[in-house]
Amino acid sequence: MTDKNNDKMEKIVSLCKRRGFVYPSSEIYGGFQAVYDYGPYGVELENAVKKEWWKEMVQLREDIVGLDSAIFMNPKIWEASGHVAGFSDPLTECKSCHARLRIDHLLEEIGVTADEKMTEEEINKVFDKNIDKIVCPICGKKSFTKGKKFNLLVKSNLGNITEDPKEPPVYLRGETCQGIYVNFKNVVDSVRVKLPFGIAQIGKAFRNEITARQFIFRTREFEQMEMQYFTSPDDEMKEYEELRKARWNYYLKLGLSEKNLKWHKHEKLVFYAKAAYDIEYNFPFGFSELEGVHARGDYDLTQHSKFSGKDLSYTNPKTNEKFIPHIIESSVGIGRTVLAVLTEAYTEEKVGDETRVVMKFPKNLAPVKIAVFPLLKNKPELVEKAHEIFDTLKEDYMCEFDDNGNIGKRYRRQDEIGTPYCVTIDFDTLSDKAVTVRDRDTMKQERIKTTDLKEFFGKSL
Ligand code: GAP
Repeated sequence: MTDKNNDKMEKIVSLCKRRGFVYPSSEIYGGFQAVYDYGPYGVELENAVKKEWWKEMVQLREDIVGLDSAIFMNPKIWEASGHVAGFSDPLTECKSCHARLRIDHLLEEIGVTADEKMTEEEINKVFDKNIDKIVCPICGKKSFTKGKKFNLLVKSNLGNITEDPKEPPVYLRGETCQGIYVNFKNVVDSVRVKLPFGIAQIGKAFRNEITARQFIFRTREFEQMEMQYFTSPDDEMKEYEELRKARWNYYLKLGLSEKNLKWHKHEKLVFYAKAAYDIEYNFPFGFSELEGVHARGDYDLTQHSKFSGKDLSYTNPKTNEKFIPHIIESSVGIGRTVLAVLTEAYTEEKVGDETRVVMKFPKNLAPVKIAVFPLLKNKPELVEKAHEIFDTLKEDYMCEFDDNGNIGKRYRRQDEIGTPYCVTIDFDTLSDKAVTVRDRDTMKQERIKTTDLKEFFGKSL
């Protein structure tokens, strides 16, 4: 990572804390590694991201339905999915500072790619071969313990009141899509869907990530937005290409620039996969995975059929042909989308001798759409009028009332949270029944009649 990019990341992290987007978890108790809380503007941004995804995936699609499955599930699901046996990262410990580190990340730093499907023995071979070139990113020393595969599933003691060690642990789900697979039959039997069709879900997932790196990019508790599309075996790759196109265009619509996006093809596939691509975004620390778009064959429903003993096949109503549907998936984290949106929006501009920091969010994603200011807070007639205007706009838009500090400072604060419009009520408003509307990006101000405000924002937002 270059100093410039490092600097940008630090600036984003600092703005997020200072302006109420993202806070470190449990901060007053010294924090809690790799967990973050979303503040008042962060939750608005998150909600806007979820809304856009849901609109794209469910509202605009006749062939995709929604679902909200529970976080806790029968532990057998995680055996069937392969997570109990194989959902692990290679872990080592620095013998000097005792930092726990991911071997694949250490190798990546020196330009060596370690495949996630490598066995413990295979990864240790590569690790040993390159050990002379690897240094601990925390203390700079060069002595490490032997690599060990570390399972990422998070266990709970749900329902195990006697704490019987023989009872299988109940896991907090490691990905949301398993809830979709196990409800496939319910959806087919209860809703009028025919193959090909998809099920979309947004929800929390939990992973015992070894290293806490890169802010909200990799956290132990996070939210996923996943869509699983069920097809016939013959249609799988055709639908996969359609989905890849749709996902790329979705990110452009979301306001990410094409130069900051690229495809990463997985060269080594798991045995059941037909194809696997990630969409990478140019985060301040470089291009990294934003979303996975994978063709998974019939693995998931076959496994759940086997382990549950239930028939999860589908019968084509026209041909009566019976088969296990194949699945293509789109899977993305909300934290990663929010970080991409923050990175894209962060702008510094010279205004006179000062540097203006402005978050140029697309208007649909901006946490606050309109800020309403009385010019002076000690003039009751201005404050009252400002409240009146705030009340007429709040029904349709997330608005914020602000009477703190001088107008310049209020503009700067709204720029930093990315509010597209500020409305100022001044002494002239009382006679000419007009307000000053200031545009975030151009900083241009125009007088608009209070009676025209709704129409103005109807067009501009
Ligand atoms: N169902 C497939 C699946 O879960 P994954 O590549 O492990 O695949 C999919 O995760 C997406 O979820 C990633 O592309 C990323 O956006 C997000 N994600 C995964 N682990 C994450 C973590 N620890 N913190 C934040 N987001 C994460």
